[in-house]
Amino acid sequence: MASTQTVFRLNSRKNIVDLTKVEEEIPKAAAHEVLIKIHSVALNYRDIAIATSNYPFPVKGNVIPVSDAAGEIVEIGPNVQGFTIGDLVIANFNPVHLYGPMKDWNGGLGGPVDGVLRNYLTINANSIIKVPKASSLKASQWAALVCTGTTAWNSLYGNVPLKLGTSSSDEKLAYVKEKFGADYTINYKTYPEWAKEVQRITQGNGVDHIFENGGSGTIKQSIESVAFGGVISVIGFLSPAKQEEMPDVAGLALSKGCVVRGINVGSKQLLEECVRFVGSHNLDIPVEKAFPFTEEGVKAAYKYLSEGQHIGKICIDPE
Ligand SMILES: NC(=O)c1ccc[n+]([C@@H]2O[C@H](COP(=O)([O-])OP(=O)(O)OC[C@H]3O[C@@H](n4cnc5c(N)ncnc54)[C@H](OP(=O)(O)O)[C@@H]3O)[C@@H](O)[C@H]2O)c1
Repeated sequence: MASTQTVFRLNSRKNIVDLTKVEEEIPKAAAHEVLIKIHSVALNYRDIAIATSNYPFPVKGNVIPVSDAAGEIVEIGPNVQGFTIGDLVIANFNPVHLYGPMKDWNGGLGGPVDGVLRNYLTINANSIIKVPKASSLKASQWAALVCTGTTAWNSLYGNVPLKLGTSSSDEKLAYVKEKFGADYTINYKTYPEWAKEVQRITQGNGVDHIFENGGSGTIKQSIESVAFGGVISVIGFLSPAKQEEMPDVAGLALSKGCVVRGINVGSKQLLEECVRFVGSHNLDIPVEKAFPFTEEGVKAAYKYLSEGQHIGKICIDPE
């Protein structure tokens, strides 16, 4: 094995092209750690927000970005049990968040803690999950599951079915109908008051579960769309409201008797359940594009994600 690896760091966070490629030593696994050779990493909107200083939570200086990776164990510390060399594994978004609610925002990979945009990662063996050996999914599909999969699993915990999806692109909406069998979709630009469309489609019942990606700018529409007693999982901050237009969330939530629940990605326990479900059903996780692990490839991946035309996940494959 070589002694050095390629690592990308964000030494300034003004623009996505501030990513700097450096050569660093490959670390050794400590007693409770494993060394993972990374095969694929998946990008999230969070990575763009971090690279452009728009992320509302702590980020360390000169951070190695990106939280989601799948790779192969190549070295095992002497106190680690239950893993063997060659196991394909993924690590939880926040390696110290093993179960229950998250305690703070100080543990996420690629933000407050160095992430995975590199060839090799040492990590505590308690934070990783083996992916099923029999699965035909690629490493990029497992990497794609980490943040998005855990967040969705966390939001849906309780098994309330998801009924509708929104986008501003008719092309994306037609694709998810055809590929994933969504019965209804709504273009939120064609219908800026999309709650009315939801009420029309559901004959005034509303939907049981909403993934709120916009934040304060869209939550009024979400609460007007939700069924009495439904659940709104507050996930994103893509569309913040102006202070003078802040909706009265307390009054709106009361009017529907709904649950408005903030989501902090999720614990390793939730990711484990999600992996078991995806593995046993061999679900074809949608990876739209995998870019090469070169300076050009990494910057092109960030640019592609920031342009927002994607439907599936965007990955980068060191292997
Ligand atoms: N709380 C958590 O634990 C957690 C975990 C994961 C992600 N997040 C957050 O969730 C958000 C999405 O992240 P991602 O990585 O999934 O991003 P992404 O891949 O870029 O997807 C964003 C999606 O949101 C849609 N969208 C954008 N603005 C919208 C609006 N005003 N109303 C309705 N839909 C809108 C986009 O639709 P178009 O088709 O129109 O572009 C697109 O489908 C980000 O804010 C991210 O930080 C939070």
